Amino acid sequence: MRRVGIIGVGEYLPKKILTNRDLEKMVDTSDDWIITRTGIKQRRLAAKDEATSDLAVKAARQAIKDAGLRQEDIDLIIVATITPDMPFPSVACLLQKDLGIKDAACLDISAACAGFVYAVSTAQQFIATGAYKNALVVGAEVLSSLTNWKDRNTCVLFGDGAGAAVLSAVKSGGILATYLGSDGTKSDLLMIPGGGSRRPPTHKTIDQGLHYLKMQGNELFKQAVKIMAEAAQVALSKAGLECKDIDLVIPHQANLRIIMAVARKLGLAKEKVYLNIEKYGNMSSASTATALCEAVKEGKIKKGDIVLLVAFGAGLVWGASVIKW
Ligand code: ACO
Repeated sequence: MRRVGIIGVGEYLPKKILTNRDLEKMVDTSDDWIITRTGIKQRRLAAKDEATSDLAVKAARQAIKDAGLRQEDIDLIIVATITPDMPFPSVACLLQKDLGIKDAACLDISAACAGFVYAVSTAQQFIATGAYKNALVVGAEVLSSLTNWKDRNTCVLFGDGAGAAVLSAVKSGGILATYLGSDGTKSDLLMIPGGGSRRPPTHKTIDQGLHYLKMQGNELFKQAVKIMAEAAQVALSKAGLECKDIDLVIPHQANLRIIMAVARKLGLAKEKVYLNIEKYGNMSSASTATALCEAVKEGKIKKGDIVLLVAFGAGLVWGASVIKW
């Protein structure tokens, strides 16, 4: 089996910024409530003519360039998303078309906020076996398309964006261990009830708002803290490492209080935790992807560092990956 690493990163955030002050004019909320309860100050919103693949292609171009590859070098494209442009074809195929890549296997992964970790791990398997050489992995979301802008419980939390990584075989370092898990018995904690084959879209489902995201925030919060800390520990132990060996954690950015509670459980100082929630809110699969990209670009990850990706989301699903940079 070949050793696999991330050799390039990229991101794209839509231009439009929606601040907490803007939200104060839309629902009964306050800048203070949102910052204190979530750590979010603003989020990005895709333009009306921007779909998930439009965000993905910009992040992807940056990642391929950063990897020092040409688009035609990519032979596997995996997009993690819960907000595809349409039910099918996959965003990965639309991305392939936009990038002008001819020979590549393309698939989407639906693992909500853990999607990027799932996609990185999936790509790793294909490269490790020698089935493919260079994989483009993207976490991209237009969560604003399924947000009920009249529901203060959810609309303050989410944003739009895309992050990308290119994975290839490497001589040293790379992905040391990954742990992926899920618990479908808790699927009702976060879902979009309508619009799928269970309740196909009708005037009635639209009138009932079933095409919007529904969330039991309190219970998810507790699950997120417990599971993210456990997942991190399992992945570290698979890598033969301990929490003290971590140089930087790239956590899913759902809530600052969740992230800090996980850091406390792991005994990690604040400086070892990368945050971008303040600027972007929760972008599901794009959160860990953009956070990794920004940490690299800001010089917070150096060659030889031990980086831990850890994410949790609807499903429930979770994943943690230990990478030697
Ligand atoms: N502004 C003002 N008040 C609000 C707002 C708001 N935007 N939203 C809720 N409130 C009110 C509630 O109505 C409630 O009022 P009440 O006491 O009169 O009933 C009060 O604030 C407290 O509500 P809680 O839900 O207890 O607030 P909590 O501190 O739990 O924070 C939050 C809510 C931010 C949603 C938190 O529970 C959370 O972050 N949960 C986890 C989210 C998550 O991890 N999602 C998973 C990943 S997402 C994915 O997979 C796509």
